[in-house]
Amino acid sequence: MTVTYIALLCLINCVFCENCTISRLTALVFKDIDSDSEELLVSDRIELTSDTFSGKIQLFEDAFNFLIINQSLPRLCQNSVKITNDLSVLQIRNSGLLTIDPGAFIIVPSLALFKISENPITTVRTGVFNNLNVKELDLSHNFISVIDDEAFDNITALEIVKLSYNAIKELSPNWFQNSLNVYKLSIIYNELTKIPANSFQHLAKNRPIKLRLSANMIHEIDRNAFQNVADIEVIRLNGNKVSKIPESLFENRTVRILQVNTNRLECFPESLFKANIKSLAFIENPKFNCTCLRRVRNFVRTNAVDIWYPAIICEDREREMNIVFNFNKTYEIPVLLPPTDKALLVPFNNVE
Ligand SMILES: *[C@@H]1O[C@H](CO)[C@@H](O)[C@H](O)[C@H]1NC(C)=O
Ligand SMILES: *[C@@H]1O[C@H](CO)[C@@H](O)[C@H](O)[C@H]1NC(C)=O
Ligand SMILES: *[C@@H]1O[C@H](CO)[C@@H](O)[C@H](O)[C@H]1NC(C)=O
Ligand SMILES: *[C@@H]1O[C@H](CO)[C@@H](O)[C@H](O)[C@H]1NC(C)=O
Ligand SMILES: *[C@@H]1O[C@H](CO)[C@@H](O)[C@H](O)[C@H]1NC(C)=O
Ligand SMILES: *[C@@H]1O[C@H](CO)[C@@H](O)[C@H](O)[C@H]1NC(C)=O
Repeated sequence: MTVTYIALLCLINCVFCENCTISRLTALVFKDIDSDSEELLVSDRIELTSDTFSGKIQLFEDAFNFLIINQSLPRLCQNSVKITNDLSVLQIRNSGLLTIDPGAFIIVPSLALFKISENPITTVRTGVFNNLNVKELDLSHNFISVIDDEAFDNITALEIVKLSYNAIKELSPNWFQNSLNVYKLSIIYNELTKIPANSFQHLAKNRPIKLRLSANMIHEIDRNAFQNVADIEVIRLNGNKVSKIPESLFENRTVRILQVNTNRLECFPESLFKANIKSLAFIENPKFNCTCLRRVRNFVRTNAVDIWYPAIICEDREREMNIVFNFNKTYEIPVLLPPTDKALLVPFNNVE
């Protein structure tokens, strides 16, 4: 009876951990910020200490940076990584990591940075990061397309989240619940098409936030996209397809820096002209409306805003001037009158 029970348990374990057996793995360990790395054969350690067949990634001394790079680590199962010593930076890079099961990381120290990068991972599941004490989570340069709503909940220490260079298609308003200190979110080079209502509602309220959303395919920003957002230090939306910025972006908050280069804007919302903005960049918005552009010019002059205009020539009929907007300057040049009939009558031959 007992024997059968143990055999069954083992079978379940074996199936569960089928792809978790960590083969020979070399990690680089940097003792201090400046120290040269020391190669640590993790598998040797496992053989020395392990009483399990599946293996664990462990650190046996305090260190600054624990780097797993160019290894073969397709899957991390529950308890695969167990770190109890002091550590500031943990990185798993270019190691074919495809699957991370909930509970994979048992990490006691508080990490300044946890980076998982250049891996084929596609999904961020709930239960992988929730119980960690980590300040910056960098999951850039992977193939992430799905992030569970609760994946980043309850991470009190979390301040910076980088998800750039992935395949994320949607922002969830539910991310970051009870992670009250996230003030910097980078999701550049992904596949976002919209910024839905309440997208950033759980970001930090105790300091200005920084949003980097450039190089997506964003064409729609919900009018309530910025609901419950505190002041914004910078919002970058360069290289998207934005044609309209909602009024509410500038209502009841300060937005210090807005970058919307290379989009499809025709004007800014009315609220911008009352806002306390310090820097505004919108080069390469070729359809920008001349009436609005002249208004922007007056606004930035009056308010000493740093400005980068689209390259557009606008006619000022009343004054018979063309206003040339280019980069951070404007020029006024007299309108060139069309050639008169008389001029056209001069035969070309006579020029010789
Ligand atoms: C283990 O990996 C193989 C090959 O990649 C795959 O076919 C199999 O489904 C995986 N098993 C589990 C339990 O994930
Ligand atoms: C990891 O591999 C890349 C190329 O695949 C190489 O440039 C880099 O030097 C390697 N890093 C280490 C620490 O082995
Ligand atoms: C976050 O904390 C709340 C309250 O303690 C808990 O109910 C919830 O399950 C936690 N969420 C996750 C994903 O751990
Ligand atoms: C801004 O504050 C005013 C006055 O408190 C309020 O009437 C308005 O609805 C607020 N606007 C937004 C977008 O929250
Ligand atoms: C530009 O904006 C003005 C006022 O905001 C509007 O009257 C005009 O029709 C717009 N021009 C074009 C070409 O859209
Ligand atoms: C315009 O840009 C140039 C080059 O970046 C810079 O040197 C100059 O100070 C800027 N002028 C203004 C008015 O901001």
